[in-house]
Amino acid sequence: MIPFLDLKAQYATIKPEIDAAIQGVLDSCQFTLGSAVASFEEDFASYCGTRHAIGVNSGTSALHLALLAAGIGAGDEVITVPFTFVATVSAIHYSGARTVLVDIDPQTFNIDPDRIEAAITERTQAIIPVHLYGQPADMDPILEIARRRGVMVIEDACQAHGAEYRGRRVGSMADIGCFSFYPGKNLGAYGEAGMAVTNVDRHARTIRMLRDWGAEQKYRHELKGYNYRMEGIQGAVLRVKLTHLEAWTAARRAHAARYDELFSGSAIATPQASPDVRHVYHIYAIRTRQRQLWQDALTAKGIHTGIHYPVPVHLLPAYADLGYKRGDFPHSERAADEVLSLPMYAELAPQQCVEVVEAIRELDEATKSAGR
Ligand SMILES: Cc1ncc(COP(=O)(O)O)c(C=O)c1O
Repeated sequence: MIPFLDLKAQYATIKPEIDAAIQGVLDSCQFTLGSAVASFEEDFASYCGTRHAIGVNSGTSALHLALLAAGIGAGDEVITVPFTFVATVSAIHYSGARTVLVDIDPQTFNIDPDRIEAAITERTQAIIPVHLYGQPADMDPILEIARRRGVMVIEDACQAHGAEYRGRRVGSMADIGCFSFYPGKNLGAYGEAGMAVTNVDRHARTIRMLRDWGAEQKYRHELKGYNYRMEGIQGAVLRVKLTHLEAWTAARRAHAARYDELFSGSAIATPQASPDVRHVYHIYAIRTRQRQLWQDALTAKGIHTGIHYPVPVHLLPAYADLGYKRGDFPHSERAADEVLSLPMYAELAPQQCVEVVEAIRELDEATKSAGR
């Protein structure tokens, strides 16, 4: 059996450190925010190369508060992509703004900068590029358009901890960067957690207030805030895990290189990493028109895969009110029909990569000889 992800294998490698960190929170009884969260914030800000990091209870909350800190609300428009996890668009909805979608570049699965300007109106206040699968979006043209047109940029870095674009860490390039520490992420909590990072002091202050009921001083609520605090146990766990992240990222990149090499010479469409990025392979997705057939056959062999994501946001019933229809974003729609995420986690063994690729190459041969 080859799982898609193996959190137990990871825990086994760091158990004593994690157990001690959790025990420390139990001893201190600092269950929300507190010193473990503050220390993790400091470490994560320095990891991202930003002045500030503000711990919250999910990546969705980080995006929501980033939008509010940017002053975005009803009557405004925010540009993002349909080929993302629904949370990107949900956060825009929570802020009161309207989501305007732009199609992806089919090579990278990220926002196509050449399509952004046509979507900008006098109501546009922000662009949210999503660094999908762990590959940074093409930030320089995005930042240039944003500067020229006077709109903010908020990075959805929820899948891209430690990824780099032309030597810059994700989260540090735009006005605000948002991370998720959902357990399956490259840096995952033992529960829900997220983080907003920024170099702008006033954004940091606003997000810090909004996550904790809009008050800097207890019961002196200056803003209409939220209960979006990070839990102490999550801060403690994440602080330990951050010290391992570079080694885990190196392992993921080695697995991806192994997959690439094992697939070479076949016609199977593998991920395309741009030359000027450090892709951190949260997801390693191949593309196939026979996805359902292949996924079922792999499952039958004990090889577990994922689909990220089967329906682009503009075709989800929940967001039908955005007013888009099938055909509006052909690259996103095709990607949603074809992507298949292969097993990917640091503890994956090289031999397991070989088994996965052999099984897929067999399926590819069978597909070809069946003339499909
Ligand atoms: C691209 C993207 N944006 C936002 C989120 C939301 O993060 P969370 O699940 O921590 O709320 C996620 C992860 O789930 C994500 O993958």
